[in-house]
Amino acid sequence: MEKNFDVIVIGGGPGGYVCAIRASQLGLKTACVESRGTLGGTCLNVGCIPSKSLLNLSENFHKAKKDFFDQGIEVSDIKLNVEKMMKNKDKSVQVLTKGVEFLFKKNKVTYLRGKGVIFSRNNVVVYDNGKKTNYNCKNIVVATGSTPTSIPGIEINEKNIISSTAALSLKTVPKSLVIIGGGYIGLEMGSVWNRLGSEVTVIENLPFITPGMDREVSNEFQKILSKQGIKFLLNSKVLTIKDLGSKVEIEYQSNEKKITTKAIADKTLISVGRKPFTEGLNLSKIGVRRDDKGRIIVNKKFQTNIQNIYAIGDVIEGPMLAHKAEEEGIAVAELLAGQSGHVNYDVIPGVIYTSPEVAYVGKSEEQLKKEKINYKTGKFPFMANSRAKVNNETEGFVKILADSNSDKVLGVHIIGPHCGDMIAEMALAMEFGASAEDIARTCHAHPTHTEAIKEAALAVDKRPIHF
Ligand code: NAI
Repeated sequence: MEKNFDVIVIGGGPGGYVCAIRASQLGLKTACVESRGTLGGTCLNVGCIPSKSLLNLSENFHKAKKDFFDQGIEVSDIKLNVEKMMKNKDKSVQVLTKGVEFLFKKNKVTYLRGKGVIFSRNNVVVYDNGKKTNYNCKNIVVATGSTPTSIPGIEINEKNIISSTAALSLKTVPKSLVIIGGGYIGLEMGSVWNRLGSEVTVIENLPFITPGMDREVSNEFQKILSKQGIKFLLNSKVLTIKDLGSKVEIEYQSNEKKITTKAIADKTLISVGRKPFTEGLNLSKIGVRRDDKGRIIVNKKFQTNIQNIYAIGDVIEGPMLAHKAEEEGIAVAELLAGQSGHVNYDVIPGVIYTSPEVAYVGKSEEQLKKEKINYKTGKFPFMANSRAKVNNETEGFVKILADSNSDKVLGVHIIGPHCGDMIAEMALAMEFGASAEDIARTCHAHPTHTEAIKEAALAVDKRPIHF
């Protein structure tokens, strides 16, 4: 077996496997080390993919139960089979992780199963079931991702105090679920279990949910989720959690009045963020520098302080998003092949796959104000969009923020049906440096949800047609 490589990528998640495929495409002899047993990392195995499967399946169940009757579809006896639903999800995961293995074969990437340890700047040792193999390489790319963080003093036991991993595989619907943290994971998983019948309460430290998101959208989002039955305790901090065996006790305190309250639930999901995962890589010994948050420090070319050791994805600075890691993986591969790989961090879209979805790209109003950039706003509600109306999906709006002087689009924020897909149009527009006028003058098919984008662009210049 080959022992010498141009590149060894450690970690087979979206950052690592994409980097390995691109490097191999560019003629570099490439290997990718992965210890999980399957490729695809957190995203495919216990993150983006299984959660989207459950979001889709639970939405179908919810629609069948709540909406079908009013739409003239009369089905009796709609029952939930959690075991079957989970099997369906597991199958999607299996197909996709196997798919990456196939892509490795197709692109001639060597898949090294086991735990990769950086022995020296030109050596990676792979440990697999007691077997130790040494590989030589010219370059190393660290793409080992992240793991869930907890609250100080609280241990996630994956029984009643769970992370997203266990929340994606519960065998029964908990009667009550307390979610700590109103971010991406909390709200997606909260939506799943709320639709399947749990009483869901979200405890969030800040006075609003989804920090970092445009505040107008986040306020609307909270209103819509509250209407769906999710309860919110904002501006509250969790102090302690006790696993009582069959239940959990959560003690939390309001930040303003300092009133302490105890809540009892079947399960509690801790979704207060994730931290870079670099354990066991031997980074300290090799001398690879990390910051105070444990992130590997890299330069614009993704090089660590050791020139031929690179890092991408959740282990470095930036949003912990699969597609951000993928872009970085491609950029590093291209740089290693002597090309000019680059990532445009101003145009990284974000999506929360709830119902309705929330999607954004570029700057929020809060950021523009902070940066003292003058901007114009164009807004259009889905209530006035014909396709949304016929589909009974009228919640939400599109908001476009454009530079007051140049009209250049600076940010787009959407809450509404299918906006996770719609945001791609806006990312492309921004990548090409589009003005709101460019979007307003682009013909959008009728009747589609995307017409709301065109109308919001028209609204930037105060001339929407349908509102
Ligand atoms: P997050 O950073 O999105 O949200 C964490 C929330 O917890 C914040 O609102 C924060 O204020 C709150 N919080 C922190 N400490 C707290 C405490 N002690 N008590 C109450 N609230 C507290 O993190 P999350 O949801 O765990 O997601 C982790 C990462 O995974 C994110 O960076 C996200 O980018 C990624 N992700 C992305 C998804 C997507 O793209 N759709 C889906 C799921 C995760």
